[in-house]
Amino acid sequence: MRNYLKVLRRCTAVGAVALAAFSLQPSSAHAQDPEPRPGPSVVGGVDAAQGEFPFMVRLSMGCGGALYTQQIVLTAAHCVNGSGANTSITATAGVVDLQSSQAVKVKSTRVLQAPGYNGVGKDWALIKLAQPINLPTLKIADTAAYNEGTFTVAGWGATREGGPQQRYLQKAEVPYVDDATCEGAYGGSLTPGEEICAGFLEKGGVDTCQGDSGGPMFRKDNAGAWIQVGIVSWGQGCARPGYPGVYTEVSTFASAIRSAAAGLGG
Ligand code: ARG
Repeated sequence: MRNYLKVLRRCTAVGAVALAAFSLQPSSAHAQDPEPRPGPSVVGGVDAAQGEFPFMVRLSMGCGGALYTQQIVLTAAHCVNGSGANTSITATAGVVDLQSSQAVKVKSTRVLQAPGYNGVGKDWALIKLAQPINLPTLKIADTAAYNEGTFTVAGWGATREGGPQQRYLQKAEVPYVDDATCEGAYGGSLTPGEEICAGFLEKGGVDTCQGDSGGPMFRKDNAGAWIQVGIVSWGQGCARPGYPGVYTEVSTFASAIRSAAAGLGG
């Protein structure tokens, strides 16, 4: 029961509100101004530039994801219903504008939800695509070395609590929040070995939000390449002071993700 309640708290918007509210609303600012501009976003972000995060994927159930391989999307376990054959999901890639005629759309063939996922921690899943997408992939962190510093988040989710999904990909930067501090906010709801927190603890104002789930949290590695450290998972509201965003700790699951992907045939 406790888990059930927690799942509801985490993801009501994905299952119900986000789908119902999935109206891609072009803002008037976009019509006049194709340049990236400050404004509401993820929450507190700005437009991403076309091609800036080529690995970003929008999933038709109202989640984000990243190309782990050209034929496998890494997303959140709470974005999918279980494991097995599944041809119901459409992945949209290659564009910041979901309504662009250049969008690449590919159907799913299979879903692999994290083994042992029960609504607490382990919030990762893989989606096998019907065809490979010829775009750069995002490598995942396989040690904790990059679980610090400032992270980039991106998604087409709400720009405020209860707000609509977005037509244009939004991006923002959020600082790492250590486990002890994050437990101060969330207590026993946090699974520190499996989750990593980020956000402006004092001020709030910048965060992922409903519909960003499953998307990557990433940073530059020592060679200057993007590396994924988190998967958008949950939070208390969005961008509230005192409540950081909670992300699946990718390094914890890197070997499980690798073997699961191998099992899907890369
Ligand atoms: N569970 C939400 C989703 O399914 C993600 C919420 C992220 N919340 C946050 N405050 N960072 O889209």
